Amino acid sequence: MAQSIRDDDGSTNLSGNPHLTQIVEAAIARNPSRRAFLKTGLGASLLPFLGGVAACSSVSEGEVEKALGFKSVSTGSGDTMVVPEGYRAETLYRWGDPLLPGAPDFIGDASETWQQAELQAGDNHDAMHYFGFRAADGAEQSDRGLLVINHEYINPEYYYVPGTDPANWLMPFTLDKAKKGQAGHGISVVEVRRLATGAWEYVKSSTFNRRITGYTPIEIAGPARGHELMRTAADPAGTQVLGTLNNCAAGFTPWGTYVTCEENFNGYFGWNGPRTPTALENRYGLSAGGFGYLWHTVDARFDLNAEPNEPNRFGWVVEIDPFTPGSTPKKRTALGRFKHENAEVVVAANGKVVVYMGCDERNEYIYKFVSSGTYNASNTAANANLLDAGTLYVGKFEAGAATGDRMGSGSWVPLVFGGNGLDAASGFTSQADVLIRARQAADRVGATMMDRPEWIAANSKKSGEIYIALTNNNRRGTTPASSNRADGATVAGSARPAVDDANPRADNQWGHVLRWNEAGGDPTATTFTWDIFVVAGNPKSVTDRANLRSGSANVTLENMFNSPDGLAFDSSGRLWIQTDGSFANTGNFDGQGNNQMLAADVSTGEIRRFLVGPSGCEVTGVTWTPDRRTMFVNIQHPGELGSHPNVPKKADGSNYGDNDIARDASRFSKFPNAGDATVVGNSPRPRSCTIVVRRSDNGVVAG
Ligand code: FEO
Ligand code: CA
Ligand code: CA
Repeated sequence: MAQSIRDDDGSTNLSGNPHLTQIVEAAIARNPSRRAFLKTGLGASLLPFLGGVAACSSVSEGEVEKALGFKSVSTGSGDTMVVPEGYRAETLYRWGDPLLPGAPDFIGDASETWQQAELQAGDNHDAMHYFGFRAADGAEQSDRGLLVINHEYINPEYYYVPGTDPANWLMPFTLDKAKKGQAGHGISVVEVRRLATGAWEYVKSSTFNRRITGYTPIEIAGPARGHELMRTAADPAGTQVLGTLNNCAAGFTPWGTYVTCEENFNGYFGWNGPRTPTALENRYGLSAGGFGYLWHTVDARFDLNAEPNEPNRFGWVVEIDPFTPGSTPKKRTALGRFKHENAEVVVAANGKVVVYMGCDERNEYIYKFVSSGTYNASNTAANANLLDAGTLYVGKFEAGAATGDRMGSGSWVPLVFGGNGLDAASGFTSQADVLIRARQAADRVGATMMDRPEWIAANSKKSGEIYIALTNNNRRGTTPASSNRADGATVAGSARPAVDDANPRADNQWGHVLRWNEAGGDPTATTFTWDIFVVAGNPKSVTDRANLRSGSANVTLENMFNSPDGLAFDSSGRLWIQTDGSFANTGNFDGQGNNQMLAADVSTGEIRRFLVGPSGCEVTGVTWTPDRRTMFVNIQHPGELGSHPNVPKKADGSNYGDNDIARDASRFSKFPNAGDATVVGNSPRPRSCTIVVRRSDNGVVAG
């Protein structure tokens, strides 16, 4: 998030520490087959921490090479994208690129009107999915498809022409600016095609191209449709909302739809004048000023004193049919309302559709939805409303047989009105009410507070094995400990739980990836076992072995990273990990450079760095063509100043802030525009973008 946008997760307060022979030994004890890899395959970098044991074994290196078929890249803090030897990275679709008829080319100085912006690519590309067109035989094509791309938010410092107030470039703020901000949000549906060279282009004239924005009409579907908490003056029936916001990660269904997730929706709302927030508003983090977008100051829809129910219409999963351009997207309320990260969809052996979802805020929960109906592979239309009826569960992660071993057991607790204390006595009135107040329902049943649930990915080669990125959490492990209150009265983010087996570090600066196995390999099961796949850390700068600060045994000087966020399995069962963390490259993050993308062999634990992004970016959104010769990756918010080592300095020696970069937009990152004559005026302000990553010989990526 840009500095000007004050999000719920703030900046982290670093403390730290490192590695240990004990961790390796503990891992070996859990899984003796890993001994050869852990003892010999990690490379020389880990050896000092292992007391100088042995040299690398070429046998284990060979095994790793087979699973992770590319040469790793080094970290860096440059304003470029670094990919492995033999690969290339090519820009495909940037913020401001013209998409719809009448759209201007990117003007370059951010002077587009909102009416122009809604015809161009939105900002902050996040999750996406490639939907190939079908060949005559029904096969999904790898050379022509629709990319459906989330535009999570805007970076105001680059998005607007600076105003007249020298102290604040956003001022004066106007309704036109709010509308332009809303136009930069939402979704792009964009046709893309592969050329004979293997390079890609997007098809400007495609009739499939579409923008969904912060004001596109969207139907409210499922149990909360029409509920009194969903009604507003503009929509007294509570059945249609304008727009989708903060579309972070996403998922896709086997019936060909895209499910996009509304994450930090609370940041767009505020109130003018006095207001005492309700328990519901507090629990979802609504505040007088929001994150600084200022929409509520000019547009009554975002002012809780004018429209108190409007926030209840956000925080949902939205289903979009990309091949039907005129279709109305639907908010699927059966999946619950929270700060949705992604929606990982799998079909169980009995045909039930299971959707795994995390709520991304410190000390929030992991959920899953199990449909009532079953998937019909031979009749697409029959699946159209499968996501409207089913059971929403929330996860409990228990220590299991032993504590301190970073493994255990767990269960899924149904959030069903009338059960588990979700009844009139506790203030719930219906299933719709439970879903609208899903966080509070989860509080009531005692769900486990996690270290910021980000993406969830199902192992494509093992039924019922699911991975989640828990990105970081600086609000755990302090004294006294506190939990989200069972009565739902907690202000979002204010609890301070103790460490537990599943969230084993106080002040978790680097994050971890946890996995669980559903009982019997069945995604509809209500119990599971879990363990931690990797504890990220810094074996370079931190030496507190006892507190896991240097990471688990599969974290080395060569592959270290912080804040795992995006997670996805490719069709060969390789897990890809993308980061959205500190790029300060100092202190606890010394040697970790810019945000990056890695690949993991989940059978051995081996992790290898695949690419490094440009200055100030987050790496997110990965999808492949079915032949896996093309990988699409999103570079989000290049040029975010944060604590990057190359932040420009002012005359007095202090760092640039957003008010400075807004008036000197090409001073820091120029990615991906530097020298690009196709940009009108060649204004090289940084732009979020979709990048094609492919092998120079057009072979299978990492194949
Ligand atoms: Fe939008 Fe949780 O990342
Ligand atoms: Ca345990
Ligand atoms: Ca994310």
